[in-house]
Amino acid sequence: MTFGCQMNRLDSETVAGRLLEDGCREASSLAEADIVVINTCSVRQHAEDKVWSLLGALRRRKERRPEMIIAVVGCMAQKEGRRILERMPHVDVVCGPQELARLPELVAEARERRERLVATGHSAACLPRVVARRPNKFQAFVAIMRGCDNFCSYCIVPYVRGRERSRPPGEIEDEVRRLVADGCKEVTLLGQNVNSYGRTLGDGTTLASLLRRLDRIEGLERIRFVTSHPKDATDELFEAMGELPSVCHHLHMPAQSGSNRVLRDMNRRYSREHYLERLSRLRELVPDVEVASDFIVGFPGETEAEFEETVELVREAEFLNCFIFKYSPRPGTRAARMPDDVPWEVKRERNRRLLAVQEEVMRRRQAAMVGKEVEVLVEGPSKRDKTKLTGRTRQNHIVAFPGEASLVGRTVQVRIIDSTPLTLFGEVVGEVAR
Ligand code: 5AD
Ligand code: SF4
Repeated sequence: MTFGCQMNRLDSETVAGRLLEDGCREASSLAEADIVVINTCSVRQHAEDKVWSLLGALRRRKERRPEMIIAVVGCMAQKEGRRILERMPHVDVVCGPQELARLPELVAEARERRERLVATGHSAACLPRVVARRPNKFQAFVAIMRGCDNFCSYCIVPYVRGRERSRPPGEIEDEVRRLVADGCKEVTLLGQNVNSYGRTLGDGTTLASLLRRLDRIEGLERIRFVTSHPKDATDELFEAMGELPSVCHHLHMPAQSGSNRVLRDMNRRYSREHYLERLSRLRELVPDVEVASDFIVGFPGETEAEFEETVELVREAEFLNCFIFKYSPRPGTRAARMPDDVPWEVKRERNRRLLAVQEEVMRRRQAAMVGKEVEVLVEGPSKRDKTKLTGRTRQNHIVAFPGEASLVGRTVQVRIIDSTPLTLFGEVVGEVAR
């Protein structure tokens, strides 16, 4: 079970791939599983609460089947460590994200010796690539770096995932080539701040130079990358996005706030003006680009006027999509030492207001897509309506349309006939030849 970000999804796929290689089989249900791995997130208290209650619910299962091994891995395992074993006597293994390479060994040891084990060190400088069990053949996540050195004042990531380290570009290229040979058409490069990719290599490698290298791979249709930090989003990167045919015109570049006071106290190291300048430069160099952002509402001391500056930014920026979060103090971070003085109801209200503004933006922009033709990589059946398929455009619009299951994994041309704030609806007009 996986909570949290795409990096966590990749880690879970890697762990699953490892265990399958070691001779495990996938259980058809939780009731039958001999090993249960829960990959956790610490980014907000809410993410941790969900895991605590899941673990509470697993206690009865373990009483019925004492041979079942329960492993808690990921960011919360790193942060809470032994406390998980203390609070949850039925948990066998606790393993942080930097020790995941050792998980199979820890699980085996826990089974054989009936011992309870904790690994929260920093052993894996870079997780060596192992077979990841991808949910489908045509898409893959590729970690290009691990950890983070930014220390945004609200963020737990640098504490649980450790210092920033970039993987050498040759190694990444080999991995992508292998994925493409295995049928992969789209890769999403992952890092907590992909814009600083290459910095720890010290040889002039940048994200843009990596993109140029990967763009040459025959058969790779789409390259995406997340997440971008506005302070490191360079013209060099935007130019590469504009020039390289396989690089998707979509940028996830969280603004977090529209208030310079809040941005300063968040230690984001850019201003509202800088963010907007980067956005307009990007749109100059990549005219059909779509941008997504994250925002935190109710950061310590956020006044009504400061929140309004965020609302204004959202009106002005015209994002494709926004992820809005209520500030949640994380123990050990710098912001956790500031008073969490925005009441919960006010956070909730601001969250709702900001979402409403963004929805209006999305409604208008999505409606403007009606009548256009877009290129869609078909991902699978729609969750809402089984008679439809869904997929994404290069700009990351979600598109739903009627079609045969045989189209999954193919790239089709779709004419848009209707829209909602989050989804475009259309009909297939042809397949895109490659
Ligand atoms: N409280 C609320 N939201 C947070 N995020 C990160 N840390 C916190 C926190 N302490 C949000 C940021 C980030 C996204 C992944 O989660 O917006 O971009
Ligand atoms: Fe959650 Fe951040 Fe860890 Fe991802 S890196 S799982 S978002 S705490």
